Amino acid sequence: MLGAGRSPNRTPMTTYPKSHALMQRGAEFLGCEHAVLCGAMSWVSERNLVSAISNAGGFGVIACGAMTPELLDAEIAATRALTDRPFGVNLITMHPQLMELIDVCAKHGVTHVVLAGGIPPKGSVERIKESGAKVIVFAPTLALAKKLLRSGGDALVIEGMEAGGHIGPVSTSVLAQEFLPALAEDHLVFVAGGIGRGEAIAGYLEMGAVGVQLGTRFACATESIAHPDFKKAFFRANARDAVASVQVDPRLPVIPVRALKNKGTEEFTAKQREVAALVDNEGLEMMEAQLQIEHYWAGALRRAVVDGDVENGSLMAGQSVGMVKAEEPVADIMASLMDQCEAALGQRHAKR
Ligand SMILES: Cc1cc2nc3c(=O)[nH]c(=O)nc-3n(C[C@H](O)[C@H](O)[C@H](O)COP(=O)(O)O)c2cc1C
Repeated sequence: MLGAGRSPNRTPMTTYPKSHALMQRGAEFLGCEHAVLCGAMSWVSERNLVSAISNAGGFGVIACGAMTPELLDAEIAATRALTDRPFGVNLITMHPQLMELIDVCAKHGVTHVVLAGGIPPKGSVERIKESGAKVIVFAPTLALAKKLLRSGGDALVIEGMEAGGHIGPVSTSVLAQEFLPALAEDHLVFVAGGIGRGEAIAGYLEMGAVGVQLGTRFACATESIAHPDFKKAFFRANARDAVASVQVDPRLPVIPVRALKNKGTEEFTAKQREVAALVDNEGLEMMEAQLQIEHYWAGALRRAVVDGDVENGSLMAGQSVGMVKAEEPVADIMASLMDQCEAALGQRHAKR
């Protein structure tokens, strides 16, 4: 079946035998053709991009971000109207209404819930599984990954610091070497962060990953509702322009965010000082301080993505942004990635 936006002349799926053989477990788990997830991107990963990804044979994920249960309810329904293929929902573990959001996913029969932003609170994984959905988790360390996979996580995403948005301290290549040999045989591991071309996908598949997750490469697709100025900023940028935010106060554990350098980057430094002062002078709780920082990011990202304020907003982007040069339909990006992956696997095997 051809999905929306997919050219009828596109090469048939059977042209990727090597890639699909290595992706098989991942694709079966997700219920899609190519085990390529488009990671949730707040304000960007809404009905249009998510359905386009799933219609192109990948796996789209709705970014719930700071959405209320009512908004998520509407977004899932609207996405379902645009695709009959599976897609997931990404929930942030520190969301105050996490349980209600899980119930909204259950009501719609969402098949996969991605829990991002920290250790899932007690009862959340169980609640998701009661609805029959699969749980996808993130883990920054191998010990935590094992724990989450033991306690109900069905698949794991490891995400390196090359990625756009909130990041950990370790690069994708090192995480892959640490996690894949230990987990790939018995578990489903997807690799994310810094992937811009199919050759890199081939490499991680050969190391044992069952699939990959990309964000930056899809953020400016034709179907993405991101503002034209947001997209232009991506097309102009090089890898070195996507920088990680700095933490100004050692007591305020701010998760670094990778974004294109602009005035907003400096404003974030000022915001941290403001919140640190509230902790010092007015006894603001640490949890609340972190929530304020997260709300800041959500607002700043909205300004850039929705309003096109590329000066003051947050242009979250990964280092692969240098490989994003023009607006392309999702189906074309997916086809390029798969063509490159298949060619790379073919060449490597031919040389042996
Ligand atoms: C603009 C933008 C917004 C993002 N927002 C979120 C988010 O809300 N939740 C989340 O779990 N990850 C978020 N991410 C991370 C992506 O889901 C994905 O894991 C990441 O982009 C993969 O790395 P890459 O950018 O190098 O492809 C965001 C990334 C970008 C570029």
